[in-house]
Amino acid sequence: MAEAIQQLVLDTLDKFGTIHDTRTLVLPGYTDPAANHDSQIIILGALNSLSSRDMISYTTHETVSHVLTPEGAQIAVQGSHEARVWQALPHKGDGAPMAPKQLEERVGSETAKIGQGRAFKNKWIAKEGDGLVRLAPSIEDNTQVELREVDSTGTLKAGEKALAEMRKRKLIVQRKGQWFTVKKGPAFSTSIAKPETDLTIDMLATGSWKTSTYKKYNFEAEGLVTNGGALHPLLKVREEFRNIFLEMGFAEMPTSSFVESGFWCFDALFVPQQHPAREVQDTFYLSDPAESLPPPADYYERVSKVHEHGGYGSTGYRAPWSDAESRKLLLRTHTTASSASMLYKLAAKCRGEGEDKSARSAAAHGSGAQAKEGDDGFKPAKLFSIDRVFRNETMDATHLAEFHQVEGVVADRGLTLADLIGFMRVFFTKMGIENLRFKPAYNPYTEPSLEIFAFHPQLRKWVEVGNSGMFRPEMLEPMGFPKDVHVHGWGISLERPTMIRYGINNIRTLVGHKVSLESVENSPAVRF
Ligand code: PHE
Repeated sequence: MAEAIQQLVLDTLDKFGTIHDTRTLVLPGYTDPAANHDSQIIILGALNSLSSRDMISYTTHETVSHVLTPEGAQIAVQGSHEARVWQALPHKGDGAPMAPKQLEERVGSETAKIGQGRAFKNKWIAKEGDGLVRLAPSIEDNTQVELREVDSTGTLKAGEKALAEMRKRKLIVQRKGQWFTVKKGPAFSTSIAKPETDLTIDMLATGSWKTSTYKKYNFEAEGLVTNGGALHPLLKVREEFRNIFLEMGFAEMPTSSFVESGFWCFDALFVPQQHPAREVQDTFYLSDPAESLPPPADYYERVSKVHEHGGYGSTGYRAPWSDAESRKLLLRTHTTASSASMLYKLAAKCRGEGEDKSARSAAAHGSGAQAKEGDDGFKPAKLFSIDRVFRNETMDATHLAEFHQVEGVVADRGLTLADLIGFMRVFFTKMGIENLRFKPAYNPYTEPSLEIFAFHPQLRKWVEVGNSGMFRPEMLEPMGFPKDVHVHGWGISLERPTMIRYGINNIRTLVGHKVSLESVENSPAVRF
């Protein structure tokens, strides 16, 4: 059909030079001109195809035409309600008048109701006793005739008044229409042979390239979608956190050491050696190698001393110190192990040692770049990390033996709990979380400690989003930090906001072999 119409357009142009009004075309398979809306839409398709090849050009004219409503269409086929009523009745004097009830059964209650009124008005029918009879010997169903006219021409010769009446009766509605004037284009030809899209060896060899028509390049075409790689949801959320940290002037800590010693994971943080978290249920210990290299001797001395006997204003745990416990190798249970070793490096100058390069370069990216170093060698720092940790937990829908922690520490003189809380508000606001609550908690290495809760508008409840606190002097002072240097830190899980964001309720669909690649590819960038 599409090609036949294109051919019709070309042939007509060939014969008459222009097509002034496409409503005069008689489409293949029809006897009447293509005056109605649908036909013009079909013609438009053919015109677009031809004009894209420069074979024709056309201009558009807007019209307002009319189409039938479902009721109008029914009348066009079956006749008006009044005609159907007249039809159903006997002629006057020709059999018994019809009772209204019977009429209703014959033509349906709606047609009986509407039709009677109009038929009386037209003097088509009359009452006789209790019944109804035909009055006019014959009728002309104008409504039906006019609706048929509208259906095929989109308008009425009778004019706007008649159209308005039909619209009022909700038998027709207006519809914007178009028709077209068509002229020959620069590449006009009566042949609609498909234009070439490629120059082939064959065309060069036979010389047919000289006479061929070519399809124009469409530089606006969008091209095929390429299937590139996609970030896993966890990595997308990690990127978001990372950007927030960088925006706030934090530097990223190196966290490549998944294996740590009991010393860095616990002792340096003033976690008692008898702490339940250190027991085999919670921590994965290595069997080969099972023992770490010794930590820096002086520092080790100070740490073991504060545990066993106290110091820096603390009574310590006063429990026997075990070197074996300290040297055990394990999979780190929190990234605070990395924070501890980073803070230790940061305090190198305060201990009178040379500045540690890795700490300096990390701090140089962050606030440390602007912050001034004091006489005691201390330089403020803001550090963060986002990496994997391991816990020997019973696995269920929300727990795996490994997960990611987002962690930050801020070291500066005279920091207070108010700084920590204020900082948290800014940090979480950047993630779109403004409604925060803080609850006193316990960590062996922070005092005070706060759990952070956020109101989740979708889940309509308070969810725990993080754990935080002011690091204890028992941890900071053995490292060599001056007394007035306070450090606050916090940790949050990466999986939890990701699961909430993506509506995932089983962690196994987020991590592991059950992850759906499709959802990874199609998930948009995220916000908690
Ligand atoms: N290490 C804590 C945890 O695993 C988080 C934390 C980091 C708390 C730093 C306080 C300070 O939950």
